Amino acid sequence: AVADGYLRRIPKAELHCHLAGTLRATTVAELAARAGLALPRPADKLYQWPDFYGFLDVLRLTALVLRTPEDFSRAVYEYVEDAVRDGNLRHVEFFFNPDYFYPNGIDYPAMVDGMIEGIEAAKKMFGVSSLLICCIDRSTNTPAQAVEIVETAIAHRRDHVVGIGLDGAERAGPPATFAEAYALAKRAGLHRTAHCCEDNQTLVEAPPTNYLICRDVLQCDRIDHGYNMLASDFVMAEARRDGLYFTPCAWTSLVHNRPHRPQRIRRMVEAGLNVTINTDDPAMFETDLGHGFTTLFESIGWGPDMARKFSLNSVEGSWLDESDKSALR
Ligand code: HPA
Ligand code: ZN
Repeated sequence: AVADGYLRRIPKAELHCHLAGTLRATTVAELAARAGLALPRPADKLYQWPDFYGFLDVLRLTALVLRTPEDFSRAVYEYVEDAVRDGNLRHVEFFFNPDYFYPNGIDYPAMVDGMIEGIEAAKKMFGVSSLLICCIDRSTNTPAQAVEIVETAIAHRRDHVVGIGLDGAERAGPPATFAEAYALAKRAGLHRTAHCCEDNQTLVEAPPTNYLICRDVLQCDRIDHGYNMLASDFVMAEARRDGLYFTPCAWTSLVHNRPHRPQRIRRMVEAGLNVTINTDDPAMFETDLGHGFTTLFESIGWGPDMARKFSLNSVEGSWLDESDKSALR
């Protein structure tokens, strides 16, 4: 076994973290009051849902509190502050879904520039670097809307926005649906990741072969989650040979239906995949970077060598350029 303190202190990069899922309940309450936005429950009771689909509804609702560039700056800064304290965060790559925020009356460049302001302030205060991933919700966007999202990211290009992602309910939007948006991103030199084979979906809704589609059709250079791939030895062997990095998340408050999550991560590691450990939506899932590591290590019984391996993997799997990676190694 390895001490909690060690697991919290080891430096980490986080590659799978949705900005809208990081908001402190106190910040949500304050911003909602200021915006005159009525929440259906008090903010400290907001993060409750019956199932994954209910969770996605709350995520979209929470996103409605971010209205100004200052709100976006604050959200980024506060997450970095929390994750430095809770898990010695050194680098983070945030997903943001621009269309979650358009109803708030903010446009793409204003939200991105707000986040960049927060990134720069957090870099100055904590020495932590951050990048941004423009994300497409597959459950609410048509293929044509996905293309528009990528076109917007290209039209308002910012150095910090280094790639695109695909989240939401996998059964609603199989990966091949978004081939055109991903081809466009690739031509523009953007990195590509996608949520794939998530265990809140059945093997019919998110089959292991989704990995092959993400690899070959979307040409992803990283994969979020991946647990359902374990059902296919063939797909696992391919993934091992491909060497892409995976971003499973150690803890979810949906964990009541997912007690097998730590064992699935263990099997992904033992199958030889390049695995990193992430929080996904830490505030909403009542977890943090250190907590994810401690619960996982407690459950599996890994030693400090594995903690160092995950720490290094998170740097190697990041979308930092080579010189920034070597500064973190
Ligand atoms: N899966 C799907 N959609 C999401 C997630 C996730 O892990 N987090 C935020 N939106
Ligand atoms: Zn996610």
